[in-house]
Amino acid sequence: MMKMNTPLKISIFLSAIIILASYFLFTSPEKEALLKFTVFFIIVFSVTFYVLRNFFHERIKLIYKNIYKFKGTSNIKELDIEKAEKEAEEWADAKEEELNAYKKDENYRREFLGNVSHELKTPIFNIQGYVQTLLDGGVEDKDINYKYLERANKSVDRMINIVEDLEVISRLETEQSVLDIQKFNIVDLVKEVFELMEMKASKMKIKFELINESQTNFVKGDKDKIQQVFINLISNSIKYGKKGGKTTVRFFDMNSNMLIEVADNGIGIKKQSLDRLFERFYRVDKNRSREIGGTGLGLAIVKHILEGHNQQINVRSTINVGSTFSFILEK
Ligand SMILES: Nc1ncnc2c1ncn2[C@@H]1O[C@H](COP(=O)(O)OP(=O)(O)OP(=O)(O)O)[C@@H](O)[C@H]1O
Ligand SMILES: [Mg+2]
Repeated sequence: MMKMNTPLKISIFLSAIIILASYFLFTSPEKEALLKFTVFFIIVFSVTFYVLRNFFHERIKLIYKNIYKFKGTSNIKELDIEKAEKEAEEWADAKEEELNAYKKDENYRREFLGNVSHELKTPIFNIQGYVQTLLDGGVEDKDINYKYLERANKSVDRMINIVEDLEVISRLETEQSVLDIQKFNIVDLVKEVFELMEMKASKMKIKFELINESQTNFVKGDKDKIQQVFINLISNSIKYGKKGGKTTVRFFDMNSNMLIEVADNGIGIKKQSLDRLFERFYRVDKNRSREIGGTGLGLAIVKHILEGHNQQINVRSTINVGSTFSFILEK
């Protein structure tokens, strides 16, 4: 059924006014002429309108057929031409957003690849240098042979660290939505991580402390991934801690959630760096981190995992006093 479109409504309204005016203003023969003209006007206008409307309707339908092909829907038969403009606008906006996301992704990938190769280059060139010196006769020199092999070994460790971090990141990205959510004992999990990190901590004479102020030991989450979160945060608390310092993991109740804090009394982080901390490859002090063996991927991984749990990671820190990282999990 043909709907009453605005131009048709206008023509009927104008005709009604002309008829009404002619009735009051004109004499009989004039009235008759005007009436004839009005009838003629309505017929010509309606026919022209109808033909033109169908002509444009068909063309718009054709455009929409193509748009719907992209949208994946096919309700072309129910196409409401009145809403077409709004729908086309929405569709164009969505496409623009999609395109921008692709561009951002592409830029990110380019930057990521650049960073990875840059990070790998340093240890590779170091190893090459030490091995070359050893081959050039250094292997016979008791003063340097052992020292250089040790240094080369350190660079190998560094490469292994980077590759392992990259593996975690790429696994997280490909399995993005696959979270194995279950209830687990978070106190036990942290104790396990403390055991894993004990050697590292003892080198810095750092003590571990676990304080549970929550009514429960259980939370909901992907246990393996949350373990990775603790490994990265606790490893940082040691790496950027002070000799003889302390790493404290605390649990608090927050209604139906648990608030988890990992705190250290280490070197702290300057205010300007706090916003960038969770970006991939970001390190407050590149040289210092590289020396300690930091790639700048640990906190990006933490952020990624918690976002997968619909949560976020927060940090507060004071230079030379310490840093506290916190996040929430459902109980
Ligand atoms: N507890 C902390 N105290 C002080 N600075 C920290 C702390 N945790 C992280 N940082 C700073 O944030 C930067 C980023 O941390 P992140 O864990 O992402 O990388 P990393 O430790 O350098 O390397 P990776 O974890 O990949 O081995 C670190 O280089 C360090 O400068
Ligand atoms: Mg780290």
